[in-house]
Amino acid sequence: MSTEKPSSELLNELILLASRSPSPHNTQPWSPRIVDGGIEVSIVPGRTLPAGDPTFRDVIMALGAWIESCAIGAAEKGYAADVEVLPALSELDSLPIAGPADATRPVFRITLSPSATATDTPASAAGLLPFTTDDVRERRVYRGTLVGKPEVFVHLDSLQLPAWLRVRSLDDAAMKQLSTLGIAFTASRATVANELLHWLRLDPRHPRYHRDGMTDSMLVMPRPLARIAAPFTRRARLRDPLVAVAGPVARFLEGLGRDASLPSAVADEKGAPTHHVLVANSRAAGIDDILSITEAMDSRIGVSEPHALEAGRVLQRLWLHAHRQGIAISPHSELIDSPAAHGALRKRLGLARSDVALSVFSAGVAETQHVPRSPRLTDPAR
Ligand SMILES: Cc1cc2nc3c(=O)[nH]c(=O)nc-3n(C[C@H](O)[C@H](O)[C@H](O)COP(=O)(O)O)c2cc1C
Repeated sequence: MSTEKPSSELLNELILLASRSPSPHNTQPWSPRIVDGGIEVSIVPGRTLPAGDPTFRDVIMALGAWIESCAIGAAEKGYAADVEVLPALSELDSLPIAGPADATRPVFRITLSPSATATDTPASAAGLLPFTTDDVRERRVYRGTLVGKPEVFVHLDSLQLPAWLRVRSLDDAAMKQLSTLGIAFTASRATVANELLHWLRLDPRHPRYHRDGMTDSMLVMPRPLARIAAPFTRRARLRDPLVAVAGPVARFLEGLGRDASLPSAVADEKGAPTHHVLVANSRAAGIDDILSITEAMDSRIGVSEPHALEAGRVLQRLWLHAHRQGIAISPHSELIDSPAAHGALRKRLGLARSDVALSVFSAGVAETQHVPRSPRLTDPAR
């Protein structure tokens, strides 16, 4: 057990570790700063997604994942991470849409204190092995073919989900149809499509290829296709006409998909990836001691921002739990972003009015052992 105040080397180490956390489009929207005995984190406005994530749901969940990674690293060194959520987290509408972080407006503060046990994480509290810093570093998203292992998401007790969060399963047939509908939504909205293209790095000559965003290899794109598509992501004179043409086509497909009913639910084919939905119940969330129902109603996410932050921590635990069992994750936020897909998803799962779907993801064993590593701003310069 450590009795010391954490050194700035340790805090820097934790910041480096937490930078391996997942974030939407690999934007890495966090800006950490070491303060007395702890770390304060602000949001980088230029690393948010005003078109694709206008409610900040995914940004906040990514920050939650960042906290969880940091807490895992701290626990390994004998410290407990105490998280204080700051008022700026619930005032994100006043953020500018571009530019750097404002260090005077942190959204949370992490303070480290010596922990009673060196493994004070939710998993260890349940008497199971804690997640390790290696898990945080090695976890990866994989968007190619996944072979499902249904048993992995059956027993989640060790992850200690709060009572207001549940993980529901979605059948493969519905997933395929709703994902297509969600993709059509993304392609049909010029602002959302443009924002996505802005974060794609399809050619290693892209100046930010090794820094952030999503590369061709992360997207499992054949190299020739990536090379043809790359200029469209970088030159507005090519990109704008492409987005303009794609819009009406995608809108047409979206219209067809919206009217189609979902296939009746049957057992998934053997080997099909499994699909999971993290669902918060806003009523149950309101009765615990984090924040009140009124604040959930004020938030456009459907749960209060502090609850979304907590859900991000849980999401990271779920993805690390999968990683521990040789399973990769492929997130599908498009199912929540598209109102039509979201509506059909809610119906399929029989969600109540007070239920809020916060994340949808597929899971399974990746077809390859070489799942590409995503770049980070904290990687050594090349
Ligand atoms: C809240 C959240 C939502 C995400 N949504 C998507 C998504 O809809 N589609 C996708 O391909 N990846 C999604 N991702 C995954 C990120 O793109 C991925 O974490 C990032 O590119 C870094 O890659 P890595 O997780 O392999 O390190 C999401 C991640 C988070 C935290």
